[in-house]
Amino acid sequence: MTVQITWHGHATWIIEAEGHRILVDPFFDENPAAVRKAKEVQADTILVTHGHFDHLADAAAIAKQSEATVVANFEIATWLSSEHGVKSTVGMNLGGWATLPFGRVQMTIAFHSSQLPDGSYGGNPGGFVIEVAGKRIYVAGDTALFSDMQLYGQPALDAAILPIGDLFTMGPADSLQAIAWLRPRVVLPSHYNTWPPIEQDVQAWAEQVRRQAIAEPFVPDVGQSFELGE
Ligand code: NI
Ligand code: MN
Repeated sequence: MTVQITWHGHATWIIEAEGHRILVDPFFDENPAAVRKAKEVQADTILVTHGHFDHLADAAAIAKQSEATVVANFEIATWLSSEHGVKSTVGMNLGGWATLPFGRVQMTIAFHSSQLPDGSYGGNPGGFVIEVAGKRIYVAGDTALFSDMQLYGQPALDAAILPIGDLFTMGPADSLQAIAWLRPRVVLPSHYNTWPPIEQDVQAWAEQVRRQAIAEPFVPDVGQSFELGE
């Protein structure tokens, strides 16, 4: 079964399989790297890793226009429901699995922060392991490198989406250690080149990943998809 993974700039991704559309960290309208606008985007499920603006800015709008379910930590799910009128939410927390129409997700640890845009407490930041169409995909979210990341590599990962922008998250060098611990088949870079402080030479990064010979790097342009086959 094929899973299609599309980058929409910054940390925004759409994962499609078996007719399901999973939107991760929707940030379109104010995202200098995005090509599409939030009003053009449809999803069934929206996964939000943490409360920062560059990860949830368009979550409520897209959830409403497409009647999507938003999956986030309990604090963010509650805030989206009570403050922004999102009808369908699944609130969870670190280490838990949620069963969803397409498969299931686990909320993973992330070392970062998570205050909501209006100053509300946004709970703990996280990431997700996504199981869909027989594939296992890890989205690290915004995080520093941490050695327990290796736990998410078992069972084996088909793909990992890792931040490489540095300054607010791990940078390219630490991502190489993350790859060594995660051992995914494919690795896709995220959270870089949106603004000058997180500019990175992504081709140099991809070359280092290739030399490391653990995972195959795939560097999509904005709007470009990776097909995760058998
Ligand atoms: Ni953040
Ligand atoms: Mn961020």
